[in-house]
Amino acid sequence: LDRYPESDAATLTAAYAREIGVPPECVLAGNGSSELIYLAARAFGHAGGSALIVGPTFGEYTRAAVAATLVPDTLSATEPGFEPPIGALLATIGAATSPVVFICNPNNPTGRLLDPGTIDTIASATNRAGGLVILDEAYLPFAGTSAARSHPFHSSLFTLHSSTKLHAIPGLRLGFAVGDPADIARVRALQPPWSVSAPAIAAGLAALAERDWARDCVERLAATRDDLAARLACLGLPALPSSANFLLVDVGDAAAFRRQLLGHGLAVRDCSSFGLPCFVRIAVPHREHLARLCDAVERCR
Ligand SMILES: Cc1ncc(COP(=O)(O)O)c(C=O)c1O
Repeated sequence: LDRYPESDAATLTAAYAREIGVPPECVLAGNGSSELIYLAARAFGHAGGSALIVGPTFGEYTRAAVAATLVPDTLSATEPGFEPPIGALLATIGAATSPVVFICNPNNPTGRLLDPGTIDTIASATNRAGGLVILDEAYLPFAGTSAARSHPFHSSLFTLHSSTKLHAIPGLRLGFAVGDPADIARVRALQPPWSVSAPAIAAGLAALAERDWARDCVERLAATRDDLAARLACLGLPALPSSANFLLVDVGDAAAFRRQLLGHGLAVRDCSSFGLPCFVRIAVPHREHLARLCDAVERCR
């Protein structure tokens, strides 16, 4: 704490690059993936250009687009399955000039995972339109896929990974981007020095050494996620199939449901801010808390 960290987190960047199997020039560490979302919107957008967002999704894409003077255009998946509107997205990309396309995979809050072929199709269409896809894979580890086994490298993809989710260190702020060296250089040019703190660099290096723990954690989470979904279905609250560490559940009145659960000392996310006032997002708990959560939900429905 009494020394400055490396100004560009070079040691950690090199370690991420080794882990993924790409040259260090293809990687950029950031102050959480949030920092990289905002910097990428500025780096790749042009004033008044379009930011195409596949919704309902993480609200920071819209905020980052607006901050970068882009015009956000959200194409939303709809109930009941929240199937991403790929056909409409491809048509919109085709009609746009150098769009920045935001995709969250798996998506927050639906938990839906796109297959690599679909991502490739979107990236190719965006490439033809002279744009770039910002692919946010903050929750990908929970789908059982590490950053190292993310979809194939594509020159029109700028992929973001978060180190704060799987390792449960959001207070430390750490994430990284993987992309074409020229794109990485454009974003790096906008990043202040020392953006990643010394404790975050140390935690990131330590986390990379915890492969077995990470694998066990993801396996246990997937089992608990299945059990939670089954218990909720028995209570008449079927959840959307999820590849993330949360479930999206239609409870009728999200605000009231959240209030009631708070009375039991449990917090769920009211998804009204995603435009889904009937839905809550329930984080998959530790297995020892599963019964308590399900009992409380049963009393609140
Ligand atoms: C989809 C998504 N991407 C990125 C982030 C930000 O993560 P980080 O802690 O790496 O900034 C979040 C945080 O909730 C998120 O939901």
